[in-house]
Amino acid sequence: MSSPRKLTPQEEARLAQVRANFQERRRVSESLEGIGTRIGVYSGKGGVGKTTVATNLAVTLAAQNKDVALFDCDIDCPNVTRVLRISESPVQNGEKLVPPARFGVKVMSMAFFQENEDEAIVWRGPMIHNAINQFLHSTEWGDPDYMIVDLPPGTSDAPLTVMQTLNLDGFVIVTTPHELAVLDAKRSINMIKKMNLNVYGVVENLSGGVFGTGGGKALAEEMDLPFLGATDMRADYMNSQKPAALESDDVAAEYASIAAALDIQIEAGKSK
Ligand SMILES: Nc1ncnc2c1ncn2[C@@H]1O[C@H](COP(=O)(O)OP(=O)(O)O)[C@@H](O)[C@H]1O
Ligand SMILES: [Mg+2]
Repeated sequence: MSSPRKLTPQEEARLAQVRANFQERRRVSESLEGIGTRIGVYSGKGGVGKTTVATNLAVTLAAQNKDVALFDCDIDCPNVTRVLRISESPVQNGEKLVPPARFGVKVMSMAFFQENEDEAIVWRGPMIHNAINQFLHSTEWGDPDYMIVDLPPGTSDAPLTVMQTLNLDGFVIVTTPHELAVLDAKRSINMIKKMNLNVYGVVENLSGGVFGTGGGKALAEEMDLPFLGATDMRADYMNSQKPAALESDDVAAEYASIAAALDIQIEAGKSK
């Protein structure tokens, strides 16, 4: 029998890379072990209300005594900390970072690591992947029932990388009733389906008023997806101190209904 041949330096390097990738993946999955359901909030367009839906859904679930983490992964426009008025940074605990909490929601955001708020960050695919993995495994998440992720919009490299890295259980698609937002939402649903990932359903935000209503429901029907509910365009969102769901009974009722519809889909997803 011949003894195994010695590896070439190239083969050694390749093997070391495979090992490092494997270890990184294991560290990330260990760190996320305690998390119940990972929900991505996503849209084809910016400005349709992803951050609004992600934060209001998070505080609604937290008010129902659920343990909730909110991960702001909109790497170009990380706005969650601004919307929730979080001024403190994560606290170092040994090798881990403890995320600050607000309204009962633990928040981690790319924004914590920006030098100043209006700085533009240019991220390339591998940097996004590395940064997200770093966030995921260095954060002390505890064992939240839900992790809600505010994703970058569109179908470009950034949302794609984020989705591939995060291993989400399902997506909530946000659209406005407007025809163009609906068209872009359809593109993003198709992208998720192409990646064989799960869509929990569609939320119509900024419903009523000049945009009309019904685009989200029609989209859900056309794409054969559940419609999770609509949230009207309202002045309550102008309050910058608190998420509207904690301020207005009408908004709270809309989000309670969306959260209930989402839970049905999450349970259905688990039994698939
Ligand atoms: N239902 C609503 N009624 C009124 N204003 C809203 C509503 N939803 C979102 N907005 C406002 O619209 C703007 C864009 O929403 P945002 O959640 O930041 O969008 P995205 O994260 O998709 O870019 C914000 O100023 C937000 O306060
Ligand atoms: Mg946003």
